[in-house]
Amino acid sequence: MGGPGFFGPARDGLVGMVRVPGDKSISHRSVLLGAVNSGAVRVEGFLRSADTLATVRAVRALGVDVEELGPHGESLVVHGRGWDGLAEPADVIDVANAGTLIRLLPGILASCPFFAVLSGDASIRRRPMARILGPLAQMGAVVSGRQGDRLPPLAIRGGRLHALRHSMEVASAQVKSCLILAALRAEGETRIDEPGPSRDHTETMIRYGGAVVHRDGNPLGPGTIVVTPLAGDLRMGPVIVPGDISSAAFLLVAALLIPNSRVTVEGVGLNPTRTGLLDVLRDMGADLKVTATAREGAEPLGAVTAAYTPLHGCDIASEKVPLLIDELPIWALAAACAKGTSRVRGAAELRVKESDRLAATAQLLRELGIAVHEYEDGLDIVGDPRGWEEADVASHGDHRLAMVGAVAGLASRKGVTVDDVDCIDVSYPDFAVTIEQLAQH
Ligand code: S3P
Repeated sequence: MGGPGFFGPARDGLVGMVRVPGDKSISHRSVLLGAVNSGAVRVEGFLRSADTLATVRAVRALGVDVEELGPHGESLVVHGRGWDGLAEPADVIDVANAGTLIRLLPGILASCPFFAVLSGDASIRRRPMARILGPLAQMGAVVSGRQGDRLPPLAIRGGRLHALRHSMEVASAQVKSCLILAALRAEGETRIDEPGPSRDHTETMIRYGGAVVHRDGNPLGPGTIVVTPLAGDLRMGPVIVPGDISSAAFLLVAALLIPNSRVTVEGVGLNPTRTGLLDVLRDMGADLKVTATAREGAEPLGAVTAAYTPLHGCDIASEKVPLLIDELPIWALAAACAKGTSRVRGAAELRVKESDRLAATAQLLRELGIAVHEYEDGLDIVGDPRGWEEADVASHGDHRLAMVGAVAGLASRKGVTVDDVDCIDVSYPDFAVTIEQLAQH
């Protein structure tokens, strides 16, 4: 466990224009897909965090050279070797805390004719893996895991793959991405049904590399991802990683909750499969302005400004949940200060994230003195616009919970102590510096 952090009230509000670090999901994908690209891929705006550096180490273990450039290593050149150029790793690949890495890499390894073992920290070793191992085995890969192929460590021996016809029970971008990556190398067309849309960065990036993939069905509801096997290797141009909307979410909600605040986050990703939080905050009455700029790379980006607004409660429809899955803990803090009760359902997936985020969020809000009812798949939050005095809260070693605690401190009257803040390095190593900068305007 890391050390505690104290976050005092931002008495003069948060004011300023900032950039947030690169998108975590896109950074992971740029390295993983760069590794199997035909030739070098330059990556600009790469997020250097504990999670994404685990991905860089993983592809190096497979024989891929990755150059780190720029004063802070925010540019990379991934010297892709093509799928057939990957080499058997000499040791266990340690994914650390990175769920995206342990779910996407097996999709790449499933067609590689060698043996690999993936493991990670205590939180990773509790995360469900049957959802990827089952379909990969059906495609022809030899896969296994602890407790009846349900938990990491995972062992994979890849080989020739058949196409898959699979229906996913939950809308999960990690599962979908894993299966798409395997399908690119299978014999025949793969069809994956998803109950609703989830982030589509994998589809966008492989299309950018020349692959043929599309989604049939309702853009806002159930659909089928159709993947055509890749002829040859991916041929991607340079990747520009936009700022991470999931990191920006903490600054934007902080601005909404703290009087006298106005924060603009520039260069942030605005992929509609990621911006569900902005729609929900608008429903709560938030003063939010979104300015989309021209698309610089394959992903849309722009600026988002949030200014202090007294909020009212709202209900989040379950089909919207995947569009703000990682933002639900910080949404819950906004709901805690809103007038009236807010409800979310259909969010059982939060129980199998870096922590049980439904239980951890409910506990954090209770530590602030907010009434919360926890359900198997959601929360009811009884908002109190008077806010809170002070508190000691637990992050459960989960980066997003630690940042919720920090924002709770900035919005409090006397400050909040978070028991473990080192985990923030997983996605936003400069979080405290940016908060300082906005508080001292
Ligand atoms: C991610 C997908 C989501 C998200 C995670 C990152 C990704 O997980 O919670 O932080 O990069 O594909 P699920 O796909 O399991 O919902």
